[in-house]
Amino acid sequence: MSNTTPLAVVTLAAGKGSRMKSDLPKVLHPLAGKPMLGHVLDAASALPGAVQHVVVGHGAEQVKISLADASVQWAEQLEQKGTGHAVAQAMPNVDGEALVLILYGDVPLIQTQTLQKLVDIAAQDQLALLTVNLANPDGYGRIVRNTEDAVQAIVEHKDATPEQHLIAEVNTGIMAMPAKYLNTWLPALSADNAQGEYYLTDVIAMAVADGVVVTALQPTSESEVEGVNDRVQLARLERVYQASLAHDLLVQGVSLADPARIDIRGSLTVGANVFIDVGCVFEGDVVLADNVTIGAYSVIRNSQLGDGVKVETFCHIEDARVDAGCNLGPYARLRPGAELAEGARVGNFCEVKKSFIGKGSKVNHLTYIGDTTIGEGANIGAGTITCNYDGVNKFRTDIGDGAFIGSNSSLVAPVSVGKGATVAAGSIITKAVGDGELAVARGKQRNISGWERPKKSN
Ligand code: UD1
Ligand code: CA
Repeated sequence: MSNTTPLAVVTLAAGKGSRMKSDLPKVLHPLAGKPMLGHVLDAASALPGAVQHVVVGHGAEQVKISLADASVQWAEQLEQKGTGHAVAQAMPNVDGEALVLILYGDVPLIQTQTLQKLVDIAAQDQLALLTVNLANPDGYGRIVRNTEDAVQAIVEHKDATPEQHLIAEVNTGIMAMPAKYLNTWLPALSADNAQGEYYLTDVIAMAVADGVVVTALQPTSESEVEGVNDRVQLARLERVYQASLAHDLLVQGVSLADPARIDIRGSLTVGANVFIDVGCVFEGDVVLADNVTIGAYSVIRNSQLGDGVKVETFCHIEDARVDAGCNLGPYARLRPGAELAEGARVGNFCEVKKSFIGKGSKVNHLTYIGDTTIGEGANIGAGTITCNYDGVNKFRTDIGDGAFIGSNSSLVAPVSVGKGATVAAGSIITKAVGDGELAVARGKQRNISGWERPKKSN
């Protein structure tokens, strides 16, 4: 066959997954923050020219909605009558000249290279079968070979003889073959077996009977073909996946205090000489430039951190941009729209939302900065609050270059504090403060001499 043969990928995802004990359809359970089915679709979409089909059943609507962005042709299997029946639901949408690759939506760690090998075998007019040898093959379909070691059939565990139960080589469920064969074999399946189902696995014996070569191939690792039936298996695969991401980071030259204590749910792009302490979680697209240090137990989501940024322990950073040389935390929170220019500092128990903090400005302690623009070299004292919300609307605060806001001040927006202006500690600022001015807006101190403290009556 020429290499222009179309490729149809059919992923089975109609099963109920009762052992997950969940309202969420099984294939939508996240692994590294992405539905298992999303991992499978991503692995297959890297195959040149792949047209993806997904067979849905239980929770079909929810699955389709969750993966609405994926370019997929959906097929519905109204009743789960077996894997052969499931594949048959997609075949009317599949080009009769195509090669068909069959995947499971609950086998999330399958690798593109392995799939490519199966497709290459199927392209030689063969049936390509992915098998694995298991120490405990219980429950799986067994690969039956003849004395010449050629694959003859797959026998499901429940239909197998005691001798066949001793076979360690099992069917992973993943296979590839020309559509023309499936279109002949699937209608010929019978449900006359222990489970009363239309087994896809019966096509193996049909291939042998029709003289089609069956070639078995093994994956690089067992976890690649491991299916998820319950949360124990899902948690295990999550660890396997996280370990491989951590390994890749180490190989790239990132220092991890403990590769077993980092979680990446999305894409983490890192520069040179980066250190990440224990317990950090990265979500969405995170970019760390050279020389970034992340302190223990920080959570960073969809954010970019520039060269030499130092994040101390327990920071929470979301949809933020932090330029080179900034220092954060410990216990700093950057909410969506926080932008810190070079060398800015946000210290402990400070929250910054939808605000720009200029070059070298400091927001060091116990402060809320929301809907605010701060110029360069400003100093925001401990306990400063920008009062940006009147209960209905949000208003902006503007703080000029070199301004000094004394501790425990409230800046009631909309309001501005000019360049080089000073706000006395404890002020409640409701009117604009001009450049270079001092604003004092607090009760005047009165000292009463000879004051006697109340005495306890009786
Ligand atoms: C299947 C294989 C078995 C293999 C094992 C690997 C058959 C008959 N058996 O068994 O040889 O060792 O997988 O895990 O193929 N599905 C549907 N519709 C259905 C039935 C299943 O979409 O009507 C989907 C499920 O959601 C799941 C996959 O197909 O993703 C496998 O189904 P499952 O019931 O787990 O198959 P097993 O009995 O484990
Ligand atoms: Ca299964």
